[in-house]
Amino acid sequence: MSPTSTPVADLDRIVGEALAAFDACRDPAALENAKAAYLGKAGALTAQLKALGALPAAARPAAGARINDAKAALEAALARRRESLAEERLAADLAAQALDVSLPGRGPGRGTLHPITLTMQRVETLFRSLGFAVADGPEIEDDFHNFTALNTPENHPARSMQDTFYVDGGLVLRTHTSPIQVRWMERHPPPVKIIAPGRVYRVDSDATHSPMFHQVEGLWIDETVSFADLKGVITEFLRRFFERDDVAVRFRPSFFPFVEPGAEIDMAFGDGGWLELAGAGQVHPNVLTAVGIDPQRWQGFAFGMGYDRLAMLRYGVSDLRLFFENDLRWLRQFA
Ligand code: DAH
Repeated sequence: MSPTSTPVADLDRIVGEALAAFDACRDPAALENAKAAYLGKAGALTAQLKALGALPAAARPAAGARINDAKAALEAALARRRESLAEERLAADLAAQALDVSLPGRGPGRGTLHPITLTMQRVETLFRSLGFAVADGPEIEDDFHNFTALNTPENHPARSMQDTFYVDGGLVLRTHTSPIQVRWMERHPPPVKIIAPGRVYRVDSDATHSPMFHQVEGLWIDETVSFADLKGVITEFLRRFFERDDVAVRFRPSFFPFVEPGAEIDMAFGDGGWLELAGAGQVHPNVLTAVGIDPQRWQGFAFGMGYDRLAMLRYGVSDLRLFFENDLRWLRQFA
């Protein structure tokens, strides 16, 4: 092996060349290329490190230390050159007035709550003020809680009223918030007075239907809770929600397996139109029996309200799907 090809012999020349090359670079991209030529995988200095193995064992530690010193020197030079290029760039921009340093800085930006979240919070606040607690339940439900316990057995025609997303193992994406009634009563003896807001899922999509939407369930069970209480609670809630004393509410007879009698609740809006807001009724004795509550002693009402509709009315939005496209420019206006 000739003396000049030993690692250490070449080192000073390589460092000298590298420093000159860094200085000659006029922009960051060129500098990174120059870095690769010396410190990269196939770089000249890296080759020196690889060649160490060819030295006699006794010479290796000293040679290795020198190569490492050289590497550190090159890295420091590189950092200095990066900084000076950035400064040159800034000076050039300032001279060309491409950068106006008197402009205010850009803040980190502040997030906002989604209009559906704001609506849900408002619904919760208002029902809490009417004495309701807030309950929660899983979005993936089993057949028993989503249907059977709600007086909707396996081949009941009411199951076809809802186009259900089935998932593995006979589970479903809950089609309504009503299963939370069941889950709550399984764990809490009456009296019960809760609402339960959340996401629900159905195979449906147009301007007023989204495959994922939001409902708030209500349930009030005690010894004398009647349909009159239902009307009072719903009407009072809508008055407070829309901040108007003259909201007109209509209860239309309707059928839901888990209530008897059942009704649909409409609210007057615009000139002469009615908007369907909720299903409701007196909880069916079979539902109470399914969770071990004696229907001879306990009774009350339940309702299920779509609160995306409430948000649409409150914010004057005509297409439900806009809420879920998550275009930040659109969402920010509700902040
Ligand atoms: N779960 C029903 C639906 O999604 C709505 C509903 C109707 C809920 C009547 C209730 C009720 O609690 O009593 O269509």
